[in-house]
Amino acid sequence: MTDTGAYIQRLEVSNPLIERTVRSAIQALQLPLGSRGLDAGCGIGFQALLLAEAVGPGGQVTGLDISPAFLRHAEGKVKKSGLSERISFQQGDVRKLPFDDGTFDWAWSSSCVGYSASLEPLPALKELARVVKPGGGVALLAWSSENLLPGYPLLEARLKATSAGMAPFVRGKAPEWHFLRALGWFRDAGLRGATARTFAGDAHAPLTDDLRCALVALFEMRWPGVESELSQEDRAQYRRLCLPESPEFILNHPDYCAFFTCSMFCGRVAK
Ligand SMILES: C[S@@+](CC[C@H](N)C(=O)[O-])C[C@H]1O[C@@H](n2cnc3c(N)ncnc32)[C@H](O)[C@@H]1O
Repeated sequence: MTDTGAYIQRLEVSNPLIERTVRSAIQALQLPLGSRGLDAGCGIGFQALLLAEAVGPGGQVTGLDISPAFLRHAEGKVKKSGLSERISFQQGDVRKLPFDDGTFDWAWSSSCVGYSASLEPLPALKELARVVKPGGGVALLAWSSENLLPGYPLLEARLKATSAGMAPFVRGKAPEWHFLRALGWFRDAGLRGATARTFAGDAHAPLTDDLRCALVALFEMRWPGVESELSQEDRAQYRRLCLPESPEFILNHPDYCAFFTCSMFCGRVAK
């Protein structure tokens, strides 16, 4: 499998863990029934589906992504969902959206605009705002924290202090690029009434097979290549607790309990 294929597979498998949280965030937006929206950086199309459910039968969602592989996967998923009449996909770059000004009633971007390390947040947010009608909403959602290793706060803190653990933030990057600084981007983009909300999700023993697989995928996505940045002692503990093949893998613990948060920033295009 290619790197993209493996990443797509991990995103797919991790959906059951975050679905409830993403649904809560979308519900909080109160998207108008019948409205037309953009899912920028739609990835595997999982959220385009939830957004399409939220806007109801007369609504339309356009999923945009730069990657043809993600779009192919998303199209296949939507075909099977019975919601294909409400969803279309287009390849494009969020930095230069292939849409006229004011095309959409709202725009949404999850773990892409404001999150991706290679995208400068403010110009991309301005571009989202450009394609939304005056008065329409722009929302950014992203993973904002986690507590996945109950009983091992020191190891978890050290994992968080590695490059992978703090990704997509990069050591040396301006603090203003951190996702939790998004209120400033909304202000600077001229968006009105910016708000921030955080939604929590959790998982605890006994884990269903779906949740267990989702957490395994999450561990793989959260801490790739982390071992080289750990001390010998931490590396041994990481291997013992965080690798599925270890007899002491933490997800096997009968009292396993974890939580995570996703934060959402919203604002309105000036009338
Ligand atoms: C971490 S994934 C998130 C996917 C999905 N929104 C989600 O939350 O599950 C980031 C997505 O943004 C896309 N992406 C990255 N840079 C982009 C750009 N400049 N324009 C459009 N899409 C981009 C990637 O191809 C990928 O599908």
